[in-house]
Amino acid sequence: MIIGGPSSQLLGGRIAAILKEDLALCEYSSFPDGEAYTQVCSDLGPDGRIVVVQSTPSDRDIIQLLQLLDVCRGRKIDLVIPYFGYARQDKQFKPGEPLSARAMAVAVDAFLAEDSRIFTINIHDRSVLNNFSHQATDLDATPLLADEIKKMGLDDPVIISPDKGAVRMAKAAAERLGVPYDYLEKTRHSGTEVSMAPKEIDASGRDVVILDDMIATGGTMAQAISILKSKGAKRVYLGSVHPVLTGSAVLKLCRAGVESIIATDTLEKAVSTVSTAGLVAEALRR
Ligand code: R5P
Repeated sequence: MIIGGPSSQLLGGRIAAILKEDLALCEYSSFPDGEAYTQVCSDLGPDGRIVVVQSTPSDRDIIQLLQLLDVCRGRKIDLVIPYFGYARQDKQFKPGEPLSARAMAVAVDAFLAEDSRIFTINIHDRSVLNNFSHQATDLDATPLLADEIKKMGLDDPVIISPDKGAVRMAKAAAERLGVPYDYLEKTRHSGTEVSMAPKEIDASGRDVVILDDMIATGGTMAQAISILKSKGAKRVYLGSVHPVLTGSAVLKLCRAGVESIIATDTLEKAVSTVSTAGLVAEALRR
């Protein structure tokens, strides 16, 4: 039985279709005071493994994940958290701050019976997985994005990461496509003046795909688009595993001159054209 949480209904449905397993009927609504109401209406049967798929971009999604896990308590669960919220709070930057990524992992872990498994997709830092006491695996959706880029018929493309952090992702995609890659390097000229430019590659006259694990406020990508355009890039596309796209992120990216955005369905947005269902289904089968 596959349970698609409120934020991963489409992905849950796609995984169920690939695995030819039942997709549970659930109800997700609110109590009059705003608290989340969750009900698994389908009979989960007396035993057997249950797959729960739920991304956690918001606090409410975390609560609803815990509610689903409570319904399944005592069972062997394959828990898929395609987008793991709070993963960026994995270090203490100031005294008194929590490691929120660890808190999330510990809370979820408490519901899982022996032999349960956890899967994430391009989690911000794989070290977060060490907080789980069950087998935890991070899946890599970069090849899926690369295959989508291949279909786009770009002109002399180059893959660029907006900072050093995502350069491994840019390298992996570029190698799969047989094209060059680079990252935007920050140079500090003074206390207030910082410039950014591709470290080695001349993007002038070329199609550029900027790749990053996530687009949240869009600030990082909007800045990267502007820089590459000012360096003469022909068309600038964005590729991202997790289209968090908070607030006016899309407007910022459009104003910066993005050609189009491709992203996966770890978060179900209009730009989520690349499905991770096959990747997850394959991992669940293993
Ligand atoms: C940073 O570590 C991530 O890889 C992204 O670059 C970042 O989270 C994007 O955030 P925003 O869209 O808010 O600039």
